[in-house]
Amino acid sequence: MSKAYKTLGRRLRLGVIGGGPDSFIGAIHRSGATMHEEFDVVAGVFSSNPERSVAAGKSMGIARPYATPDALFEGEAVNNEPIDALAIMTPNNSHYELSVKALEAGFNVFCEKPLTMTEDEAASLVQLVKSSGKRYCVAYGYSGYAMVREARELVASGVIGDITMVQSNYVQGHLATLTESEKSGTNWHMKPELSGPSLILGDIATHSYHLTSYVIGMEASSLSADVTALVEGRTADDYCGILLKYPNNARGVFWVTQAAAGAVHGLSFTIYGTKGGLEWHQEQPNELLVRPIDKPAYILTKGGVGLTPAGKRVSHIAIGHPEGYREAFANLYYDFASNIVDDIAGNTPDSLSLTNPTVEEAHKAWRLCLQQ
Ligand SMILES: NC(=O)c1ccc[n+]([C@@H]2O[C@H](COP(=O)([O-])OP(=O)(O)OC[C@H]3O[C@@H](n4cnc5c(N)ncnc54)[C@H](O)[C@@H]3O)[C@@H](O)[C@H]2O)c1
Repeated sequence: MSKAYKTLGRRLRLGVIGGGPDSFIGAIHRSGATMHEEFDVVAGVFSSNPERSVAAGKSMGIARPYATPDALFEGEAVNNEPIDALAIMTPNNSHYELSVKALEAGFNVFCEKPLTMTEDEAASLVQLVKSSGKRYCVAYGYSGYAMVREARELVASGVIGDITMVQSNYVQGHLATLTESEKSGTNWHMKPELSGPSLILGDIATHSYHLTSYVIGMEASSLSADVTALVEGRTADDYCGILLKYPNNARGVFWVTQAAAGAVHGLSFTIYGTKGGLEWHQEQPNELLVRPIDKPAYILTKGGVGLTPAGKRVSHIAIGHPEGYREAFANLYYDFASNIVDDIAGNTPDSLSLTNPTVEEAHKAWRLCLQQ
C-alpha cells in the first residue's frame, strides 16, 4: 500500500503544466508520478493553445483539464479537493513564473531543469521556496537511479577517500546535422529567449554538473568552459569542454555535446578519490563499478548484495530485472511524495527520502550558464 494511502487514506493529487502528448518529457513525469501509487494526476494544462490543452487532457483521462495555467490556478483555488503539488515541464522561459505562482498558491512544486532563465530568478526562487515551507524538487532525473544513490552514499561514507578527480561525458549525436525543425525555426530549444543563454549548458551540461556534484557532495569553486556551435549554420551552442576546480583542490573535466555524429546518449561519470574510484554509465544504469586502491575492482548491482540502505531503498524490482529512466524519475516522485505526506501528517521525514535535487542545487548549477 502506498505511503500516502496508508498515512492519509488517499493518494496525493498532482497537477501538471506542459508535457502534452507530443512532448519528450510529459509521459516520463506522468508515469513517474503514478508508478508507486502515491500520486494521481488529476489536473493539467498540456499546450499553450487552450483548445488543444483541454483536448489533450481529456484524451489522457485527466479529470480537470484546463485551458491555461491561470485557469488551473483559479480552478484549483476553489476546488474542495485541490492538487497537493504542481509539476512544471514547459519550455524553460516559463519555469520561474509558474513556480512563483504555484508556491504562492500553496502547492509543492516539481520543476524541470534548467530552473530559470537568469541567475537572479534562481536566487529569488531559493528564497521563495524557503519562506513558503513547501517542497520543491528539480527534475535532475539521473539522480534517481539506484546506483547513483549508491555512489553518493559510498562517497559520503569515505569508501573512495577524499575526492581528487571528477570526470563526466555527455555525448549525444542527435544534433550532428541541422535538423528540419531548426531550419524552419520551429524548435524552441534553439531560441535563447525560450531556452536560455546556452543550449548545451542548459540542456545537458547542467545534468553532468548536477550529477557529479550530487555524487561527490561538493560544488565546484570555479570553472572555465569552452562553449561553441560546431555544426555549420547553427547559432545555438552544441559543444562544451569544461574544466572545474573544487574547494579541496580536486579537479574536474566535462566533455558535453549533442553534435557527435553516430553517438547515442553517452552520459557517464568517473570519480577518483585517495582510496579508489567509481564509474557509472547511464546506458548500463543498474551497475556501479568500484575500484578500491588495494583490492580488485568489483561491480555493485541494483537489487543485489552489498548495497547500502540508500541504494536498496530505490531498487524496487528484484535483482536481474532492469530499472531504467522512467524508474529513476519515479524515484524522485517517490521521495517527493514521501516528504509531502510527512508534512501533511506532521511527521518527521525519513532521512533517506531527503535526497532529491533541491532548488539550492539547481541555483548553484547556474554557474555553468554564467560562463556565457
Ligand atoms: N530532466 C530531464 O532529463 C529532461 C529531459 C527532457 C526535457 N527536459 C525539460 O523539460 C522541459 C520540456 O522539454 P520537452 O523536451 O518535453 O519539450 P517539448 O517541446 O517536447 O514539449 C513541451 C510541451 O509543453 C507544452 N507547452 C508549451 N507551452 C505551454 C504552456 N504555456 N502551457 C502548457 N503547456 C505548454 C507543449 O505543448 C508541449 O507539449 C524543458 O524545460 C526541458 O529542459 C528535461
